[in-house]
Amino acid sequence: MEQTLEFTIDGLPVTAAPGETIMAAADAAGIYIPRLCAMKGLSPFGACRLCTVLVDGRSQSACTQPAAAGMVVENDTEQLQGFRKNLIDMLFVEGNHFCMACEKSGNCELQALAYRFGILAPKYQYQFPQREIDASHPDVLLDRNRCILCARCVRASQELDGKEIAGFVGRGGEKHLAASSGCGFVGTDVAADDAALAACPVGALLRKRVGFSTPIGQRKYDHQPIGCEKELRPEKSSTTSDVQKGVAS
Ligand code: SF4
Ligand code: FES
Repeated sequence: MEQTLEFTIDGLPVTAAPGETIMAAADAAGIYIPRLCAMKGLSPFGACRLCTVLVDGRSQSACTQPAAAGMVVENDTEQLQGFRKNLIDMLFVEGNHFCMACEKSGNCELQALAYRFGILAPKYQYQFPQREIDASHPDVLLDRNRCILCARCVRASQELDGKEIAGFVGRGGEKHLAASSGCGFVGTDVAADDAALAACPVGALLRKRVGFSTPIGQRKYDHQPIGCEKELRPEKSSTTSDVQKGVAS
């Protein structure tokens, strides 16, 4: 029989297999840890820091940190939820996210996190960066205005599609996603049904000509907040802090 490790998250007992991350163990235990760059089936990347938890008092990203026996993990604290809320706020002003005109609205993880965290208006000043769109491919569109640099498309292309359609170029504020060809996505072997497109959590990498196909009211996050599918134990909601219940501030 495989050995299991025991530890706690917010005082609740959790078990993990050796090598399993805190996030995977939390998911299995019905405890939601917010995330954007992590996606089941892809290797961990540790870029967005939304999943930051305290492990024995030290901050760690839950998507990359393996669980260990006896560790004490804090996830749902006012401080951590405030930190996550600030990160989400910053993502909105760093890019150009006009939800009302975005094909991904209602199915967007960034938008759904904003709802979950009660973000109704930007806290920081918009930066309105100038970003280019790659519409070179007949079936695939990259709108960098909405790209949050999570690398889910990059990893999905490599790990699930067996391709290498894109990567990052530039540094700091200039860092952006670029097709792995000198002439944009039209020069790559990307296809509209690639896992890379499905992996994009926002409306940055899209199939052309299928926008707004799901009516309002039937979209993924119209009925339940993001993370609900992880929260298997209803009684857990009583420990969820106000900020994560979507209370506006
Ligand atoms: S295009 Fe989408 S999946 Fe790719 S890095 Fe940007 S936000 Fe992430
Ligand atoms: S989900 Fe862990 S760093 Fe992004």
